[in-house]
Amino acid sequence: MEKNITFASTNQNKFLEVQSILSTRNISVDFSQIHLVEIQSDSLEGIAREKAKTAFAKVGRQVIVEDDGLFIDNLGGFPGQYSSFVFRTLGNDGILKLLAGSAKRSAYFRSLIAFYNGITLSISDGRVDGRISDRVTEGGWGYDPIFVPDGTNLTFAELKKSKNEYSHRKRALEKFALWYLKF
Ligand code: IMP
Repeated sequence: MEKNITFASTNQNKFLEVQSILSTRNISVDFSQIHLVEIQSDSLEGIAREKAKTAFAKVGRQVIVEDDGLFIDNLGGFPGQYSSFVFRTLGNDGILKLLAGSAKRSAYFRSLIAFYNGITLSISDGRVDGRISDRVTEGGWGYDPIFVPDGTNLTFAELKKSKNEYSHRKRALEKFALWYLKF
């Protein structure tokens, strides 16, 4: 079996987290910073599957890709699979405005890690429940400044490195590592 895995994404922040989490399982990952066109679909699974195939075709080695989203209960699961677009357009301030005055702030992040080596395709998922904060906190990336995972009163941004103890990404990658190390 090939040892190294390539993580394909435009997002270097994701790579740094993936690398740090998988290194605790002695799995080394390198980074291919490429843009992967995502299919339009209501299913994160479908998007992750196609993204892994596209990435493998571009990179030519075994790859993992990630597809994730933030699902806010009071907004019917929005932004969900549109999280990336909504982050670029509304941003964290826009999300807080949509929830202004709302006591129900529960939300969750979901991550799907898809592995593909040209033959075998495997998907591992992870979820973290939490809530949307009342203000945008300092630091982090993406929605980190407004997401508070259950079990703390701090946002992902405020948790800094300890984010990885709670994150959807960590949970999906732990499942992936268990599968991969037996594969
Ligand atoms: P995509 O899977 O790259 O399309 O990411 C979906 C969106 O969710 C992006 O806008 C990211 O900024 C956001 N996102 C995904 N994971 C995280 C995270 O761990 N923290 C903050 N934002 C995240």
